[in-house]
Amino acid sequence: MDTSDLGKQILINSISQRFKNNLGSLFEPINFQNFDLIMSNVAQMPIDRISQATFHDHGGFDGWLYLDDIIRKSSFFLVRGGYLVLMIFDFLGIHERTSKSIPCLQERLEINGFRILDEYSYYKKVRKNGQTYRAIQQIKKIYPLATFYNFNNERISISENIEEAFVYLPCIISKKK
Ligand SMILES: C[S@@+](CC[C@H](N)C(=O)[O-])C[C@H]1O[C@@H](n2cnc3c(N)ncnc32)[C@H](O)[C@@H]1O
Repeated sequence: MDTSDLGKQILINSISQRFKNNLGSLFEPINFQNFDLIMSNVAQMPIDRISQATFHDHGGFDGWLYLDDIIRKSSFFLVRGGYLVLMIFDFLGIHERTSKSIPCLQERLEINGFRILDEYSYYKKVRKNGQTYRAIQQIKKIYPLATFYNFNNERISISENIEEAFVYLPCIISKKK
């Protein structure tokens, strides 16, 4: 849900008394530690040059710039047994590496004291001239083992034509040990 949609839902359901908004970069405006749940769909597109980037999508050259920060700091901000929920592109490597030298999500979560509990599927079509399409050369360079999906939900190699293909963007639920 977009922040503006969340705002509308809060108003429609008259529950604004129970919400507090803090505006800022990642955890910067937060001074409370004992969260039960942290959810994020942060910018994570691998984009090599800042001049090509939009703030909405730019995740640094390998996509992990903000995700990594969220995973490391969530371990500090969550209570024991708290949940960290992340929307993350499958091509960054979820359970296995899609680049020999770049740790996958599962490794990063385990190092920071989390274990993956569940995963909800979400597929997004690669639109011609959309952000994934535009970043494809960088994705291919950094993640040569990544795969996309065709109409029959079969994996296709990143070296194939990905126009009209689908990118898997699951919602990963993890728990702090
Ligand atoms: C893929 S969009 C997702 C937007 C929205 N959360 C949603 O799920 O529809 C990524 C969002 O991360 C935000 N973002 C990028 N850098 C950020 C930062 N340092 N702190 C907080 N948000 C950031 C961008 O403004 C953008 O809205």
